[in-house]
Amino acid sequence: MSIESVNITKEYERRGKTFRAVDDVSISIPRGKITVVTGNSGSGKSTLLNILAGMIVPENGTVHIDDVELPCLKNKERDKIRGEKIGIVPQVQSLIGGLTVRENIKLQQSFSGGAADEERLAFYIKDLGIEDLMDVFPSSLSGGEMKRAAVVRAISGDHDYIFADEPTGELDPENASRIMDAFRKQADEGKGILLITHDSHVEERADILYRMENGHLTEEKVG
Ligand SMILES: Nc1ncnc2c1ncn2[C@@H]1O[C@H](COP(=O)(O)OP(=O)(O)O)[C@@H](O)[C@H]1O
Ligand SMILES: [Mg+2]
Repeated sequence: MSIESVNITKEYERRGKTFRAVDDVSISIPRGKITVVTGNSGSGKSTLLNILAGMIVPENGTVHIDDVELPCLKNKERDKIRGEKIGIVPQVQSLIGGLTVRENIKLQQSFSGGAADEERLAFYIKDLGIEDLMDVFPSSLSGGEMKRAAVVRAISGDHDYIFADEPTGELDPENASRIMDAFRKQADEGKGILLITHDSHVEERADILYRMENGHLTEEKVG
């Protein structure tokens, strides 16, 4: 079981000229492993993640989440599959401001098909050091605390896949390492992890490593 794209292409326009943000990319995100895509800013990493999650439809190529083919589905059906299958840690702060951390997590669980068992969830809440922050509103959290809360939220739905866009961006090494430990545990529990990054510490912990340049993807390390 995996999330897989074959020969996907996504074009955008800049100053009247079309260019390929994602150019003929085939990639597989298997369960049980950490797959990392690295590359310079603007190389197409976020566009690729969004295509694999069914948020953007490519011009060419196919995407499968397990045995479901995405591009041919209606928006609503794609949203449903994504909600059930993928826990997402977006690049930007994404907790809902009017809700506490606990309420944000509960809301995420209600969207997804099922919820992580309470014992597992309590483990991650403790491991990522947010147990004292559960009844706090996001506006009073630091950047690192918000990221850790967003990771717990993504994990809380008990999805088969976790996607994170620059999960350690702007974090101190200790926070970054805690987050990577949590992703490793999730992979060991059988989940497929996709991380987009230009942090070399994240690269080091990849099972499978790809580099993106001008929309092209090359494999650097196979695990
Ligand atoms: N909606 C969009 N419309 C036009 N250009 C876009 C859009 N989204 C991204 N791009 C462009 O596509 C390229 C790849 O973007 P992105 O996938 O965000 O790169 P990365 O995540 O590697 O920084 C960049 O040149 C970016 O400006
Ligand atoms: Mg990006």
